[in-house]
Amino acid sequence: HASRPDPEALLAWYDRHRRRLPWRAEPGRRADPYHVFLSEIMLQQTTVKAVGPYFSAFLARWPTVAHLADAPLEEVLSAWAGLGYYARARNLHACAKAVVARHGGHFPQDEAALLDLPGIGPYTAAAIAAIAFDLKASPVDGNIERVVSRLHALDEPLPKGKAAIRASAAALTPARRPGDFAQAMMDLGATICTPKSPACSLCPWMEPCVARAAGDPARYPVKAPK
Ligand code: ADE
Repeated sequence: HASRPDPEALLAWYDRHRRRLPWRAEPGRRADPYHVFLSEIMLQQTTVKAVGPYFSAFLARWPTVAHLADAPLEEVLSAWAGLGYYARARNLHACAKAVVARHGGHFPQDEAALLDLPGIGPYTAAAIAAIAFDLKASPVDGNIERVVSRLHALDEPLPKGKAAIRASAAALTPARRPGDFAQAMMDLGATICTPKSPACSLCPWMEPCVARAAGDPARYPVKAPK
């Protein structure tokens, strides 16, 4: 019988192995909500590696959300060129305008108010709430779906199984350091709990992982046939 996964074990792993990424704050500090917002929108259909230079270029050109809101849409779209999925750039700009108009240029420190902004869905609202404000919120992206479905061997196929995965992710999230916890889950999924051949022997949650105990972690997440 597997033990309960301990959030502190994952946080200790994160303190040693966290990835240094351009949008992340130094250890022990909170990231700027505008940086989190910009990076999360860019990362939605684009890899960490490809996003790096775009993230830096956007910040150099539009250092605050108010600068971005004041920019002509055409300039934002041309700076976005190469990232693809231009709806993201339009939404980014619309959201920046709404943060200025509704909240005086400050992202609201509240998951529901974040979700109410144009272009911000449940994932992005939870990511900003957790990472920028250290609120107890649980963003669930593809990496985190994989980690959680393996940890508990959740075998209801996706997409139906997403609800159970989200509920498990929320139940795992600690009150202490929820922002680091979310980023630790992302890093674990990206570097250890990978889609093929996960490096279970290096995982801080090897012992409580039900899929690992059953011997076939790569089977998760189960996907419905197309
Ligand atoms: N993928 C999506 N959001 C991320 C983040 N904040 N850090 C690393 N990878 C991510």
